[in-house]
Amino acid sequence: MEIGIIGSGNVGRAFAGHLVRGGHEVVLSNNSGPESLRELVARLGGAARAGTVQEAAAQEVVVLAVPSAAASEVAASVPDWSGRILVDATNDFSAPVPGPGEPTSSEVLAGRARGARVVKTGNHMGAADLAAGSVRTDGNVVLFFSGDDADAKKVLAELFEALEFIVVDLGPLGTGSRLQQFPGGPLSGRAFVTLPL
Ligand SMILES: NC(=O)c1ccc[n+]([C@@H]2O[C@H](COP(=O)([O-])OP(=O)(O)OC[C@H]3O[C@@H](n4cnc5c(N)ncnc54)[C@H](OP(=O)(O)O)[C@@H]3O)[C@@H](O)[C@H]2O)c1
Repeated sequence: MEIGIIGSGNVGRAFAGHLVRGGHEVVLSNNSGPESLRELVARLGGAARAGTVQEAAAQEVVVLAVPSAAASEVAASVPDWSGRILVDATNDFSAPVPGPGEPTSSEVLAGRARGARVVKTGNHMGAADLAAGSVRTDGNVVLFFSGDDADAKKVLAELFEALEFIVVDLGPLGTGSRLQQFPGGPLSGRAFVTLPL
């Protein structure tokens, strides 16, 4: 699969490492431009390459891993996502967990990403835990998903299960992303590992 990464810091690199290991074509991008990613791309090896934000955004699955202050602007900079999957890995430190009826940061983002199928994942744990591997000595690492498009979640579930993560669907963005949201969400700020029966 061809996957774009927008934001190649702690979280973007963690995703890229797993996806390259899985044999996927990964286009990494950041704010500073492709040249600044040369060393990272060489280190990742496989089918990783650097591109512009717009090149990364053109891939069929796109991971958004930028500071939340930039997230909506980046999402809105694409005129039409045309049904492509946008993985929201961001956390909004500026806002508390929204009250009943108030939109979550992922819902706000989805509102700005015209035509994107937004799935929130990868945000609930520290980037170092995400990077450390999908299999620990004691079990497999859990990735929570929330999103309003069942097919998009299915595509991502197959992608990440093949990388040996355990995928747990928390339902639509309006409910699931509240549980994942960091800080404040009850499932956030820690990594979960499943133990085999
Ligand atoms: N760190 C964690 O443990 C953790 C865990 C879960 C979720 N998160 C969330 O994940 C997101 C990324 O965190 P991080 O720790 O990976 O941040 P980071 O290491 O600071 O990396 C941020 C990346 O975003 C890029 N960027 C910033 N503005 C951009 C723009 N307008 N267009 C394109 N790229 C842009 C930066 O590019 P340049 O380097 O060129 O400036 C950099 O590559 C945040 O929303 C954070 O809250 C973080």
